[in-house]
Amino acid sequence: MYGRIKEISTLENWILQENTRLIGILGISGIGKTTLSRHLLEKIQDNFDYIIWKNLYHAPSLSILTAQLVLSLSNQTYINFSLPKTTEKNSLLDLELETLLSIFYEYLRNYRCLIILDNLQAILAESQFSGNYQNQFQNYSEFFQNIGELPHQSCLIFNSWESPLEIINLTDLKTPVRIMSLNGIGETAREIFQAQNLSDEETWQKLIDTYRGNPFYLKTVCRMIQEIFNGKVRDYLAYNSLFLGDEIITKLERYFQRLSLLEKQVISQLSQSNAPATVTEILEKLPLSPPQVLQTIQSLGRRSLIEKITEEELTLFTLSPVIREYVKQNS
Ligand SMILES: Nc1ncnc2c1ncn2[C@@H]1O[C@H](COP(=O)(O)OP(=O)(O)OP(=O)(O)O)[C@@H](O)[C@H]1O
Ligand SMILES: [Mg+2]
Repeated sequence: MYGRIKEISTLENWILQENTRLIGILGISGIGKTTLSRHLLEKIQDNFDYIIWKNLYHAPSLSILTAQLVLSLSNQTYINFSLPKTTEKNSLLDLELETLLSIFYEYLRNYRCLIILDNLQAILAESQFSGNYQNQFQNYSEFFQNIGELPHQSCLIFNSWESPLEIINLTDLKTPVRIMSLNGIGETAREIFQAQNLSDEETWQKLIDTYRGNPFYLKTVCRMIQEIFNGKVRDYLAYNSLFLGDEIITKLERYFQRLSLLEKQVISQLSQSNAPATVTEILEKLPLSPPQVLQTIQSLGRRSLIEKITEEELTLFTLSPVIREYVKQNS
């Protein structure tokens, strides 16, 4: 992993100094959430009694997740709270959710546990504005609120494309809950280019800007430049077009599949002009009410799909080159 020094130090500070209990690491696919949290984990693991990493990719119910968490905790174990020594996975699954949760909270209170949940977006709804749970996962809301609000000495970190709405609300209060929105890796991306033996160093900034420092996008385009142009960035840039390739397209397909109809409308409108637009300009071109457009822009912003620019007194919205190109290719 290159860079991310500031992010790691902020997270370390939140966790070790401020005892933050709930942290969301958010950002578009490929920006480096999983990589960052893996490195963070290595760096701070000695401060914890228990460490658990769970990938929510297959969208477990809260009962199954809690049973798995309690099972991991009780296996790694010091004391098995309220559990007979021989408790097996199957018998844990028979316990009521309420019982499992109270055992889990007991661990959080009595030990310093670090729990990382990767790909939290899997339990959130598609075709709605960002941050809503799928119906069968609504009970996660109370679970996260409790972790943020009840007193304990542990920390739960989740990685996601979007944050559940109630967690955004919690960060407004003086609660030990924080959200980190990850941006690109900026200048550090030069290390990726060096590692890939790219040449024409004076043109690298253009690649970083165009791909907004997204390490996944940059690695993909580097591989293509290496394969086709023997690493000569200038030769690629001479075509004056933007390469996405199957890897980026597949990632974005999954991302776009989640959008609501209104989000698709606004994003498609924005893709039609390179010039950034004000809310008024968006309203003039779409048969939508102001509240609808505001809510849509807010939701797209929370998914990192829209960029906000402030020019003098005006606030304008636009798409990054990669998103614009993807939308154009798919409309
Ligand atoms: N700081 C970094 N330096 C170099 N490479 C990085 C960095 N961060 C991420 N990468 C690389 O970029 C790619 C995407 O990173 P990662 O899987 O962490 O993204 P993600 O945000 O978790 O994406 P997704 O939401 O799709 O899970 C990986 O190949 C990873 O090795
Ligand atoms: Mg990931």
